[in-house]
Amino acid sequence: MENNNTRRNFLKKTALLSTGTIIGSGLFNAAFAAQPVLQIDNQPYEAAFTDTPGTYSLPKLGYSYNELEPHIDKATMEIHYSKHHQAYVTNLNKAIDTLDKNLIDYSKSLENIFEKMSKFPEAIRNNGGGHYNHSLFWSLMKPNGGGIPKGKLAAAITTTFGSFDEFKKQFSDASMKRFGSGWAWLVVQDGKLVIGSTANQDNPLMRLRGKGLKGKPVLALDVWEHAYYLKNQNRRADYINSFWNVVDWDAAENLFNS
Ligand SMILES: [Fe+2]
Repeated sequence: MENNNTRRNFLKKTALLSTGTIIGSGLFNAAFAAQPVLQIDNQPYEAAFTDTPGTYSLPKLGYSYNELEPHIDKATMEIHYSKHHQAYVTNLNKAIDTLDKNLIDYSKSLENIFEKMSKFPEAIRNNGGGHYNHSLFWSLMKPNGGGIPKGKLAAAITTTFGSFDEFKKQFSDASMKRFGSGWAWLVVQDGKLVIGSTANQDNPLMRLRGKGLKGKPVLALDVWEHAYYLKNQNRRADYINSFWNVVDWDAAENLFNS
């Protein structure tokens, strides 16, 4: 149920964003209009960023490609969103079409999939993670963002890490130390804030074998080179510094409070 609540808040946030500036045309659709409420695993289920259950689509952005400049440039945003993210969506839908019928019901919700990740083929893991992670990432940034968190999240950060500056340092370190492609995360794990990272398009919601990071995401940073190479080339540290200027702390607070 907690995951459903998390999703609901995430969706509310994303749905709110969708009422803002809408960019592009053909790729966007009314992902949030009149979504049916289904029952899966006896839990109420609000279709995530899907048009119809089991068919995934790009979420709308709440800002234009150029509105995160100068911190994240227009070209990077456009390619990242309309090419990279779109490819994850396209390949996720293709992979779902090939699923064993016993897995079809679970494929209607990404969080259902993540909870049973080991049952699904690698293409679902990579592209389902890619779709979910990017959707979350877009919703955690905004023009004129940055600054410091407020409310309960700010208090929890201070309690856990000693100060906001120390939190930033540890999150930035985790982002820098993720070898190759992956994501840095702030999650709630057993009621506590934890910083960590995952490889490729894995995320902390996935039930995977091993010691990987687990928890409910509060903040996410894409550290794949495709997220920064056009502007920053190999300088991941510059990109991480830029990210702090566009973080939507209200969105992070909503996730934390959910
Ligand atoms: Fe990415």
